[in-house]
Amino acid sequence: MRVLGIESSCDETGVALYDSAKGLLAQGLYSQIDLHAAYGGVVPELASRDHVRKLLPLIQQTLHDAGLTLTDIDGVAYTAGPGLVGALMVGAATGRAMAWALNVPAIAVHHMEGHLLAPLLEDNPPQPPFVALLVSGGHTQLMQVNALGDYVLLGETLDDAAGEAFDKTAKLMGLPYPGGPQLAKAALSGRQGAFKFSRPMVNRPGLDFSFSGLKTQVLLAWQASTQTEQDMADIALAFEEAVVDTLAIKCERALELTGCSRLVVSGGVGANRYLRDQLQQRTAKRDAQVFFPRLDLCTDNGAMIAYAGYLRLAAGQSEPPVVACKPRWDLAGLPPLSHVAP
Ligand code: KG4
Ligand code: ZN
Repeated sequence: MRVLGIESSCDETGVALYDSAKGLLAQGLYSQIDLHAAYGGVVPELASRDHVRKLLPLIQQTLHDAGLTLTDIDGVAYTAGPGLVGALMVGAATGRAMAWALNVPAIAVHHMEGHLLAPLLEDNPPQPPFVALLVSGGHTQLMQVNALGDYVLLGETLDDAAGEAFDKTAKLMGLPYPGGPQLAKAALSGRQGAFKFSRPMVNRPGLDFSFSGLKTQVLLAWQASTQTEQDMADIALAFEEAVVDTLAIKCERALELTGCSRLVVSGGVGANRYLRDQLQQRTAKRDAQVFFPRLDLCTDNGAMIAYAGYLRLAAGQSEPPVVACKPRWDLAGLPPLSHVAP
């Protein structure tokens, strides 16, 4: 089965073609970074308009790269939520209409299920049960994955998502949007121990997170400093260490609580090098394994949507001929998928 995947939930237009026999055939990504940079963050209306401009040419390009034509598509998957409603509607309307015109099934994909399943696109994919840490710009969640499609929420952020905390912290020190990768880059020249920030909520039982207070600690430290490039690097490193240590402590706690020995990490912050190193080291120490997708499958992309959509289409699920999206959508409420082999 060949599935066209469309991602348009935020500021990236992603398209991919997944073949159940051959794997990922082609993918294309158009990032709106330059468009939103002048405003210091995503402007929803501009995001929607740009998806309208870029989506169809990107679909044509991706089909061309795969050496396929429209009639080779057996199903269409599109991100239906969570995300920005206008941006989601572009992908949902295009995907649903294409499926209608081609007379193939369409499937609405949960963006975070896409992230969660992205590591399964790699060689030696993890088999459920496992614990998944989903860390993106909008979400920070620990999920217990009993089987594909069978997700139990173990904990989540009570305020800012990890990526959001990276972005806001970077912004308050004057780094350009998108702040996460910029802050991680600045941290590379930071001196360990120059600043120290707290690890929020690690002394409380449970698996929830809270990152908004860290931002205030950074603001106070930044204002009290001489605001040199070295200060910025030192603060960036201390902030990165605080976020990563907090995430890692809760991941270890989740592994203990569930008895799982496999941890899967995905979402934009999963591209963070220090997070990847720390989780590798800490899981190795407890004879557990950690799985990450390659960097370009951590951040938003069409491949994860095509793959998640394929699994649901193969399980016989599909949408009625209605264009709809769900800006808010509970991952744990998705229908099961357990009888499909990854
Ligand atoms: O999953 P994603 O591409 O989009 C959402 O679904 O939100 O995640 C984007 C988030 C942004 O907050 C971005 O700053 C963060 O991931 N991010 C990073 C890194 N690369 C992307 N945060 C820290 N370190 C990175 N290397
Ligand atoms: Zn995402």
